[in-house]
Amino acid sequence: MKIFTDSLIFQKEMLTLKKNKTIGFVPTMGALHEGHISLIERAKKENDFCVVSIYVNPTQFNDPKDFEKYPLTYEQDCEILRKHNVDYLFSPTYSQIYPDGFNFEVSEKNLSSLLCGKFRPGHFVGVLTVVLKLLNLAQATKAYFGEKDYQQFKLIEKMAQAFFIPTEIISSPTIRDKDGLALSSRNQLLSTEGIDRAKYFAQTLKRASDKNEIIEKLNLKEIEIDYIEEFENRRYSAVRIDNVRLIDNVPI
Ligand code: PAF
Repeated sequence: MKIFTDSLIFQKEMLTLKKNKTIGFVPTMGALHEGHISLIERAKKENDFCVVSIYVNPTQFNDPKDFEKYPLTYEQDCEILRKHNVDYLFSPTYSQIYPDGFNFEVSEKNLSSLLCGKFRPGHFVGVLTVVLKLLNLAQATKAYFGEKDYQQFKLIEKMAQAFFIPTEIISSPTIRDKDGLALSSRNQLLSTEGIDRAKYFAQTLKRASDKNEIIEKLNLKEIEIDYIEEFENRRYSAVRIDNVRLIDNVPI
């Protein structure tokens, strides 16, 4: 696996590669799990080369405490990527991604103010800004995003269309454990009891017949609710368990 930390050197390599090969790109914030691996395996299957980025993007954390406690497992992540025969890893520093000091940003005026956008002001500005930069650097044929962050995926898809980004934006189904809990890097911050409540949250979101029933059931387990919304044939929710913010969504 070739590792790049310098943005322009990485971009130059990708520009050379894409002349006669296809590139599948999986952007991540590290703390890799089976959800990321499913995206990587798909990227490998559908492209000549697989490129992964690891960058914990500070501008998408509206809460500095959330950023501080985000799990950092770089060495372990590299081992996983090598085991899965990833060809390239891009792991930049802040100044490589924000040479402008975050002077420029990308914002969206509709979807980004709903659901998670209501509760995390500035979050999607940070996400869209970093993803636009990463897409410009990776020069990929296809980029892969998990459906667990469905609102994020839709916003990235719309941004790529709006800015004529030639990369195809692809979503892949949420990977869940045997009890239905959506895999997430944040799950490793939960206590054993927290994991049980997170599983209960995932099962309730899927099985309950309406919003009132979900609220009632989550209240029983003292799960703090940010929101539960049904929007465009999907049920979305964000909750807090052990002070960790978890999101999930299911088709309805
Ligand atoms: O979903 C994530 O891991 C992040 O939001 C992303 C897309 C890598 C941007 O930082």
